[in-house]
Amino acid sequence: MDTLTSWVRIGVLLGVATVSLAQAATPAAQLAGYVAQAGAPAQPARGQQFFTSRHGQEWSCASCHASMPGTEGKHASTGKAIAPLAPAFNPQRFTDEAKTEKWFKRNCNDVLGRACTAGEKADVLAWLLTLKP
Ligand code: HEC
Repeated sequence: MDTLTSWVRIGVLLGVATVSLAQAATPAAQLAGYVAQAGAPAQPARGQQFFTSRHGQEWSCASCHASMPGTEGKHASTGKAIAPLAPAFNPQRFTDEAKTEKWFKRNCNDVLGRACTAGEKADVLAWLLTLKP
């Protein structure tokens, strides 16, 4: 097999892997992933507490996403509207792992001054999944 053929094969394999990952990214699958990483069950009540509290910085998650994330949020500094975070109110939420991870990283850093742990993400997502119209 020449080099070009191997690269084509690797490209095809990566493409297949990416497509299957994207398909697997339902809110429930992402929650299962965080629970597995944390090695402990998620606790929705703890997620709500985490989401609505400040953690030594200026903002809580609720500062931008509203304390009932079934409603639209409003960015704490730009004032821009943010679509509801709870999947039952916004079917696009938690369907793209890369997007979810990107924003967890950025927002946790703003609110906690560090990354969220897998357990914290699991708790928040488990709580968001309890919110129904
Ligand atoms: C300063 C404002 C702000 C704060 C504070 C904030 N967020 Fe966000 N968040 C955003 C914006 C802006 C987006 C991206 C726009 C969008 O997806 O509607 C976003 C998107 C997200 C997403 C992406 C969800 C998806 O898959 O579509 C998650 C998860 C999230 N935020 C969680 C949190 C958590 C958890 C906290 C608290 C630790 C938090 N955010 C605090 C502004 C904020």
